[in-house]
Amino acid sequence: MIFNKTGTVPEKEKSAIIILGASGDLARRKLIPALSVLRQQELIRPDSVVIGEGRSEFTDEEFRTRFKSCKGFCKQLFYHQGITGLKDFIASKGEFKKIIIFLALPPASYETTIEKLFNEGFRDEVNIVIEKPFGRDYNSARKLNDSIHKYFSEKQIFRSDHYLAKEAVQNILIFRFANSIFEASWNSNYIESIQINAFESIGVEERGGYFDHSGSIKDMVQNHLLQMLCLTTMDPPVSLDPEDIRSQKINILKAIEIEEVSRGRYSGYLDEKGVAPDSKTETWAELKLKINNHRWAGTPVYIRTGKALDRKGTEIGLRFRKRPHALYNPPEGTASNEIIFKVQPSEGIVLQLTGKNPGMDLQLSRTDMAFCYNDNFKGDIPEAYQKLLLDALRGDKTLFVSAEETELAWKKLDGLPETETLVSYERGKVPESIFGNIWINFENYQGLC
Ligand code: BG6
Repeated sequence: MIFNKTGTVPEKEKSAIIILGASGDLARRKLIPALSVLRQQELIRPDSVVIGEGRSEFTDEEFRTRFKSCKGFCKQLFYHQGITGLKDFIASKGEFKKIIIFLALPPASYETTIEKLFNEGFRDEVNIVIEKPFGRDYNSARKLNDSIHKYFSEKQIFRSDHYLAKEAVQNILIFRFANSIFEASWNSNYIESIQINAFESIGVEERGGYFDHSGSIKDMVQNHLLQMLCLTTMDPPVSLDPEDIRSQKINILKAIEIEEVSRGRYSGYLDEKGVAPDSKTETWAELKLKINNHRWAGTPVYIRTGKALDRKGTEIGLRFRKRPHALYNPPEGTASNEIIFKVQPSEGIVLQLTGKNPGMDLQLSRTDMAFCYNDNFKGDIPEAYQKLLLDALRGDKTLFVSAEETELAWKKLDGLPETETLVSYERGKVPESIFGNIWINFENYQGLC
């Protein structure tokens, strides 16, 4: 049974979920499979409908056969060509308490699509989910927000960042604020550095055309990595109201200052489909930031992300300062404690400690206390889009990003120095860090969960 934040079972309402751009990759790979699971789990009612929209012409039957994963809920799936006439088409399927419109479209079409939806007659009855990237820089994000707000209110807009819906990312706030043992040390007096990794082993694959206009910093840091940093470092919200959580994240975004940046590119990137021959786009980025507030001044934050690296892995690490007086001998006796949030591929939280080896001598070794999702939870861990779609249906904005958050995150990046040189690295290798040997050895934690 699924409970919401107040411990009650949320009411399921008869809903229409509209996917604009339904013949695209996102609908096929993520949205329809996620909806199918929600239906299997009876989190979507059997009288709710999913309507795919696109430019191509399909019958409902042809549309359904595109999705192997629709199985039990194929008959709840319909297709409509274009936005014109969509409102009547939805009405022809029944009366719905909730209408969610998911923009699974190229970002360049967001503005005109929103206007078309308004002209088609959609008003307060819809919630609109918008995929990242939301803008290309501060000015374009602001302009996009302004144009959306001409037609729909902020309360109807759900800007999705799928990292926020990853299980281990959702657990950051619970871990920090539902336990009393961490808060006292969660500050620069005790934490030496904060480190975030988002490594991918795949290159740009089929998405060269999009990625080449973006690069690792805009594609990953502006949204996913800064959001994870906010959750790791924000002050406790006064309540679980999404606005209270967002306002604490906004305080962090305001306090962030980027100090150093380095970019790299894997060899062979220029030969990828859709990439300009004279491209200057990075596929690897490392940044050093500081958070200018009372809690974190004095604790540097290091972030790195890239494609075509040696592994797929996302981790957030906090390294504690060493004890001021080394009572035990090096190396283990003076080792720093570390807390690692393993976000993917396997989820868990690991605390690194030093302990005594059994025996007559005083021999110390480093040891890990690992809380691994695989060991602790039976059953599948929900995929991020299942959670995002369900929350959009429930109207819960906790895992969605506000207009102000998006704009602030872009503003921080807009000031970045442009570096001409791109460090070149081999596919499957991690470029040498410009920060030297400061990194937590995240590979040590690979086998743990
Ligand atoms: C997307 C980026 O937001 O996140 C992609 O646009 C990236 O470039 C992807 O590959 C990574 O997501 P995940 O969930 O596979 O880590």
